[in-house]
Amino acid sequence: MSAQVLVVGSANADLVVTVDRRPTGGETVLGGDTEILPGGKGANTAVAAARLGAEVALLGAVGDDAHGRLLLDSLRESGVNTDLVRVVSRPTGLAFITVTPDGENSIIVSPGANHALRPEDTAVVTAAPKVMVLSMEIPLDTVEHAITSAAGTATCTILNLSPVASVSESTLADVDILLVNEHEAAWLLGMGERGGVLPNPELSKLLDLGPRAAVVTAGSRGAVIVRPTGLAEVPSPAVEVVDTTGAGDAFAGALATALARDSELPDAVALAARVAALSVTRRGAQPSYPTVAELE
Ligand code: RIB
Ligand code: NA
Repeated sequence: MSAQVLVVGSANADLVVTVDRRPTGGETVLGGDTEILPGGKGANTAVAAARLGAEVALLGAVGDDAHGRLLLDSLRESGVNTDLVRVVSRPTGLAFITVTPDGENSIIVSPGANHALRPEDTAVVTAAPKVMVLSMEIPLDTVEHAITSAAGTATCTILNLSPVASVSESTLADVDILLVNEHEAAWLLGMGERGGVLPNPELSKLLDLGPRAAVVTAGSRGAVIVRPTGLAEVPSPAVEVVDTTGAGDAFAGALATALARDSELPDAVALAARVAALSVTRRGAQPSYPTVAELE
């Protein structure tokens, strides 16, 4: 299997409910009708890339249930190759998502089938896809093994460190592009709230962790590219925010697509910022991702 873009990551059914405000412990609030939408950071990234015309495969796992079929349908309809999506005997991953009127979300993920993805399932990465993208809703040892196996091949490895986790130093040294949001960057660097001020010169320390380059996203405030030559800011187009769920995954998918087409990093980040901005103007993750025609 020689996809241009290989995504190694999760697939979840997103149970989405809108609420005026989130409940605190011991409190009950009423929300709107629940929607069940295809999501999961890996599947989202793959769908975003496929909508932009990339040749993309997802390496992942779903359960033998209705949610798994919802995900496989969404992937296939978007043109993602699903030959490497295993159907396993655990329930499909679920994400419990609340969205508030400002478009902000909070998410609880129950990984289920995603945690059946083992290091030995990643042998395909040695077939050297042009770009490989990983995110952190699958087991850490699987992520680390895939990255280590691709080291020394021609593959450009993007690690979307979301949700943020401690990845080994030797793994980070094999990452070409570390993709994080400003909170994840602050966590990695022990910066606390100071991480919110972009571009913060301290972001250059992300390279001390090992990757060749880093991209730090900051929603409507754009993104910062961190390279040995310095920091570069990339603005984000101004849009009306409806739902930010999956915007980071849209960014990752577009970044991978552009890099698979040999774009320079600043151009790839500019495209990713546009795609992510468009995605927040519509509800849900995968259903909100633009096609090439919509971008133009
Ligand atoms: O990044 C957004 C995704 O996070 C959602 O689709 C949900 O499934 C959770 O994994
Ligand atoms: Na959206």
